[in-house]
Amino acid sequence: MVKSWVNSAERIGADLHLELSGPGGRRAALTRALREAVRSGRLAPGTRLPPYRSLAADLGVARNTVADAYAELVAEGWLTARQGAGTRVAERAEPLRPAERVARRTRRTPPRARGPRHDLRQGTPDASAFPRAAWLASYRRALQQAPNEAFGPGDPAGRVELREALTEYLARARGVRTEPGRIVICSGFAHALRLLFGQDTGKGGSGSRSVSRGVLRGPLAVEGYGLGFHRELLAAAGVRTVPLPLDEDGARVDRLVRERAVLLTPAHQFPTGGPLGPERRAAVIDWARARGSVILEDDYDGEFRYDRKPVGAVQGLDPERVIFIGSVSKSLSPAVRLGWMVLPERYVDDVLVAKGEREAWASVLDQLSLADFIVSGAYDRHVRRMRQRYRSRRDRLVAALAEHAPHIEVTGVAAGLHAVLRLPAGTERSTVKAATWQGIALDGLAGFRHPEATETDMPVRDGLVVGFATPPEHAFGAALETLCGVLPPGAEQVL
Ligand SMILES: Cc1ncc(COP(=O)(O)O)c(C=O)c1O
Repeated sequence: MVKSWVNSAERIGADLHLELSGPGGRRAALTRALREAVRSGRLAPGTRLPPYRSLAADLGVARNTVADAYAELVAEGWLTARQGAGTRVAERAEPLRPAERVARRTRRTPPRARGPRHDLRQGTPDASAFPRAAWLASYRRALQQAPNEAFGPGDPAGRVELREALTEYLARARGVRTEPGRIVICSGFAHALRLLFGQDTGKGGSGSRSVSRGVLRGPLAVEGYGLGFHRELLAAAGVRTVPLPLDEDGARVDRLVRERAVLLTPAHQFPTGGPLGPERRAAVIDWARARGSVILEDDYDGEFRYDRKPVGAVQGLDPERVIFIGSVSKSLSPAVRLGWMVLPERYVDDVLVAKGEREAWASVLDQLSLADFIVSGAYDRHVRRMRQRYRSRRDRLVAALAEHAPHIEVTGVAAGLHAVLRLPAGTERSTVKAATWQGIALDGLAGFRHPEATETDMPVRDGLVVGFATPPEHAFGAALETLCGVLPPGAEQVL
């Protein structure tokens, strides 16, 4: 049963639409509708309700139905009834405040699992250190200075202000050689992969899955350890990935054969930690030139180096053979969703076609803010400050392990926001489990290993990938203490 009633403004002072629907009879439906109108504030405290007879006539229900509904709401305290004053909305029947409305809505959504006590997963920077004031200043300036045309549909290449700022910044900080016309703005590394290799666009009309075409084709060589999320994204686009073994100089690029492209993390192998050795850098460029292939350079945390000389981008060796990809996910926040692709000239048009006619991903206002953030020097200042903070955390991690678990080797700590702790063979799973029990979230090395990597090519190593950037400053000491408590004991500690 659905019946509705719209009262006239004079009668109760506000336009009100009552819908009689839902379970139960008319009386229950009317009681519910009136209660909801009061609760939501549509009927304000003090409002006089229509007499039984007129509301009954408007709704096409019996007079007693209205009388009973009013009586029930009086009993509940939503309405008051006084001789001669009619029935009114109770003065203390406060409408829901917005926060309560939100709470009520979220009550219907499944409760969120409580997070871990100590988040030592790699991946995110210290969220409490987001430079709110400086970003706000940049945002304000960007908004004030933006020309009117900036508020029209966005250019898929990205704002030229940002591409100019990046050209200068990446040359200075990362040794990238480019010009604004070869930079395409995107929403991060994952988005760049989707544009380059295509993506699963869901179910097509026939019910079968459809994949948009990208710019590059597989097979794609990848490092034997890497981010599973990226491998899955490529697999969903139908791209076969082939694992390259890793050693202390990084990826064994001498093993590249017929692949059309290779994806590398040359500044800081993800997740094992070392830079790609100088001979390997030269060798991979030679391979790409000889085969007409392309190198994808994932520069995910290139700014965070501590003890070693900066490692410039491989892109600087041959801008026509390398697609250099970066984002602010590690340097600022993964929530900003801004990244860039520095492209060889021959790919620019195809990438722009893949992106579509208009910018659909990266907000122009965020782009202009980031441009200002870089040009004003705020980005350099933030990176410098965070480098100091992360270096000090890295030092505290290394010191804690030296003191409490000297048998555990720490690697990959000259740069980046995570370390790899080498564990005795066969102890990785139980250590991750013990960590979980103690409220620590972290990952074992196994989850990063390419499923097709063979034991002969790249022996399995037990280890933990420990992110040291995420916990807030005040909780970091406790996180380290708990971590040291779950590590497997050394031989001398067992005796
Ligand atoms: C290996 C690697 N590449 C790239 C990124 C950046 O990803 P995105 O720009 O999509 O946030 C990350 C995560 O921050 C990463 O771990």
